[in-house]
Order: sequence, then C-alpha cells, then structure tokens
Amino acid sequence: MDAHLAFRGVGGPHLHLGVCGSVAAYRALDLVRQWQDAGVSVSATLTPSAQKFVTPLTFAALGAAPVYTAPFDDPQAPSPFAHLEPGQVAQALVIAPASAATIARLAQGQADELLACQALAFRGKAVIAPAMNPAMWSHPATQANIATLRERGCAVVEPGCGRTACGEEGQGRLADLREIYLAGLRALAPQDMEGIRVMVTLGPTREHWDGLRFWTNPSTGTMGAAVAVAAWLRGARVEAVCGPGTPWLPAGIARHNVGSARHMLEAAASVWPQCDAGVFTAAVADFSPVPPAQGGDKKFKKSDAPDGFDVHFAPNPDILKTLAADRRPEQKVVGFAAESQNLEDSVRGKLVSKKADMIVGNLLQDGFGTADNTVFVADASGREERWAHLSKTDVAWRLLSWLLSR
Ligand code: CTP
Repeated sequence: MDAHLAFRGVGGPHLHLGVCGSVAAYRALDLVRQWQDAGVSVSATLTPSAQKFVTPLTFAALGAAPVYTAPFDDPQAPSPFAHLEPGQVAQALVIAPASAATIARLAQGQADELLACQALAFRGKAVIAPAMNPAMWSHPATQANIATLRERGCAVVEPGCGRTACGEEGQGRLADLREIYLAGLRALAPQDMEGIRVMVTLGPTREHWDGLRFWTNPSTGTMGAAVAVAAWLRGARVEAVCGPGTPWLPAGIARHNVGSARHMLEAAASVWPQCDAGVFTAAVADFSPVPPAQGGDKKFKKSDAPDGFDVHFAPNPDILKTLAADRRPEQKVVGFAAESQNLEDSVRGKLVSKKADMIVGNLLQDGFGTADNTVFVADASGREERWAHLSKTDVAWRLLSWLLSR
C-alpha cells in the first residue's frame, strides 16, 4: 500500500464485503487484505454468481470471517440470521464488484438473494463499486437504479473506462482498487470534517532555468498527500495543490497540478478564499535560477559557455506567508518546517514569522523521503508536543484532530 494511503484504525472496526458475479470478483481478495492491513476486520458474502468466479475458501483463507454463501443452511456460515448479521456487526457495507442484477435488487428492495437481504437489513454506510459491460452500465435502467441508490445515501465508486473483459471499450471496468479501499475507510471514518473545506499544498516545486533544466528538491509529497486523504476520509472537501511527481489521490479530491513556486502560489491563491483551513506541506523552492539572456524556453547549449558560467538565483514568494497575511480570522493555517538543526526553536520562530496557527516540524533526516516521521508540533496557544516514529498517515490524522480541537 502506498505510504500516504496506509491508514490504521480510522473508525469503525468491521466492514462487510459483498461480492457479485464478475470477472473482477478475484480483485475483491486484494481489498480484504488492504482493509485488514488498515486494522479493519472483514466478513464477506459471495452471491451464487460470484461463486462461479471465486471460492468462499479463498476469502476464508485470507481471514474474511464469516464468509456467507446462502441463506439459512449456509455450509460456510450456518445461522438462521445470516441475512441480519452484517447489519448487526459491521459499520460499513461495500459491494465490489457490484453487478447490474444486484444493483437492481438493491434499488427495488428485492430481497431474493442473501446479499440483497443483508443490504436491506443494513443501516450503516453503504458503498457500491459497479463492474459490468459498458452497454449494461450506460443503460437507462442501470443509471436510474444508481441514481436511486445515490439518493438514499449510498456512495458509488464509478467504474473505470477502457477495455472490459468482454472486449468492448467504454465505462464499466471495476474502479481502481485504491478508490474502493478508500471509499470503504471513508464509510467507517468519523465524518467530523464534513462541511469543512481544506486546501493542502504538497510536493516540491520545479524552477526552470532553460527549456530543459530546473532546480528542485527530493520531496515526494507523501506527507501532504496523507493530509489530503485523511481530511477527505473525514468528510472534508479537499483542494490539493500538487507539485510535480506527487502521489495519486482519489477522484473525490480536487487536484491542481502546478510546476513552479509562482504557479503554486497562483493556484493556491485562487482556491484559498473558499477554504476554512490551509495545510502547507509543500517543499517550495525559496529561489529560482534566473534564465539565461536568450530566454528560458530554449535549451542552453554547451557552446554558449565554453568556460563555464555562474547562475544567479532570485527569491520566490513565500506561499504560506502571503496567504496567511490577509486571511479571514476564522481561516486556520498549518505550516510545516523542514530543519537541519535547532528544530524546536525554528518551529517556534516560524509560528510567529509566518503567522500560522500551528507548525509541524521535522529534522530533514527524520521526514524527507521516508515513510515514518518524528515531528515537533507547536501551536499559537503555546501547546507543544513531540510525536515520535509515527507513520505519515498517523501524523496527518493527529494534526487534523488538533486543528479541529482549536
Ligand atoms: N513555504 C511556502 N512558500 C515558500 C517557502 C515555504 O509556502 N516559498 C511554506 C512551506 O510549505 C512550509 C513552511 O512555509 O509550510 C516552512 O517551510 P520551510 O522550507 O521549512 O522554511 P522556509 O520558510 O523556506 O525558511 P528556511 O528555508 O529559511 O528554513
């Protein structure tokens, strides 16, 4: 699992997975693993059609428990209340892949199969990830059923586009598994950031000197991506202003790809007025090389400087400082600090100089390009804490909880 998606213990501890008949049914096995790695226990129901593609034994071997296959006298999970149990123990129901037939049953409340019964008796959050032939997906009957389920609050992870197993091109393939994995976690997570709009800047910036060369740093954007995803899991609307090479983000997050620091400032400034909080994790280049006289879009040739040359660097705008300076009083600002020494004093200094509500600082060797992080956090009310050896997803979760508590 990518480091920015490796959340653990984000909410309700039990998820029920429904699997329908589809070539993509085998992919549900990966989802079981991924949710388990996130600290979630998973039970499953395989429809009769799903059992033509995958076996209950495989799900059981991966630790899904119980695995239901039929009502009442189920050899896998014998119980007279198999149709009610997921609703009694699980906080989220995810059906992936969801077939056109099961979607129609759910929309009609037609409880003639075990999974449809369980869905009807389920009161927690529901998510469906459809997979089917493109003509079946785009059919008005399927679209009407999807609209009905959406109206009832069911989250729909839209199928992807491309070539389907039947050889046709179009929309119908099971979505990227990361989308489904995250939709399951979001259904389990507290929605304590619902109604809040958060902007996150992340990754490096790239300062071009000529048409080919640029000045940058090795930031991967993992920390900022973890903050963006954590906020989205908690119900926030997220605007991610992403430098080059930053990680994949779910479709529910608005992504603004940028190159240089000036470009990042422009994109951030356009979304900032609509946001309630800004988390500035980007490793913005503080200086840009001044392009050679003949213009920055051409390639500088070896013959242009046979004896070598000096490069002059001009300062870049400070994005955090610029946006924090004229914010509305209720807008919260969280900055990061990457230091090579004197971490605590630098964090306290940046809290004041940047007019931030909170600064999260780390030493370069503790946080740059690593999965884990040790950070020192300080806020404007004088509260200070050290968080040692946490995953970046845990740091992200904690800092958002801190922000909510202010
Ligand atoms: N930052 C920014 N724009 C810049 C420089 C930094 O928005 N041009 C933000 C970063 O995203 C981070 C905070 O300011 O949230 C601190 O960044 P850092 O690189 O630690 O410090 P600098 O302000 O660049 O100062 P210095 O390099 O002197 O430590």
